[in-house]
Amino acid sequence: MITGAGRGIGRAIALKLAAHGADIAAVDLKTEFMQETVAEVCKLGRKAWAFAANVSEAASVEAAAEQILKEAGRVDILVNNAGITKDGLLMRMSEADWDAVWTSTSRERSLTKAFSRSLLKQKSGRIINIASVIGLIGNAGQCNYAASKAGVIV
Ligand SMILES: NC(=O)c1ccc[n+]([C@@H]2O[C@H](COP(=O)([O-])OP(=O)(O)OC[C@H]3O[C@@H](n4cnc5c(N)ncnc54)[C@H](O)[C@@H]3O)[C@@H](O)[C@H]2O)c1
Repeated sequence: MITGAGRGIGRAIALKLAAHGADIAAVDLKTEFMQETVAEVCKLGRKAWAFAANVSEAASVEAAAEQILKEAGRVDILVNNAGITKDGLLMRMSEADWDAVWTSTSRERSLTKAFSRSLLKQKSGRIINIASVIGLIGNAGQCNYAASKAGVIV
């Protein structure tokens, strides 16, 4: 299962895992964002599902996790990839831009929590959180992003 699988790194991870034999539960804000990912996974001969969820909202994450386990049966690899940037210097950064970036990353915890019971029952599984080098070195105009990714690393 991969969040933010509609494009970019998430889609690339989905296709790479599918090429290695994994079925893919793609998660993104809207199902239409994942049409291409699902079609490409199917071309590789694997099953693919598209689940719409907002990883920044705990209730949305919990509902998606329940649906994924019902339809896919189990999750062996959870890739917390979805993330956003809202860059700006701290002195001009709105609370909303701080919160949006912070929440989208820190809510990975909710998704991991939602699958923790089934992963423990299976006694197997992998959780991969996509961080960023910016979480280690910081970057001008990205204090919200750097802080949230540092949290992922720690
Ligand atoms: N692109 C880079 O250079 C780079 C470098 C280091 C780390 N990263 C990290 O890699 C990850 C993916 O980056 P990318 O460049 O592919 O991003 P992207 O913006 O191209 O794609 C992100 C995907 O996540 C989805 N998404 C965004 N917010 C969401 C939410 N709340 N709920 C569900 N889905 C949501 C978007 O719709 C989109 O499909 C991010 O966590 C990013 O911080 C990216």
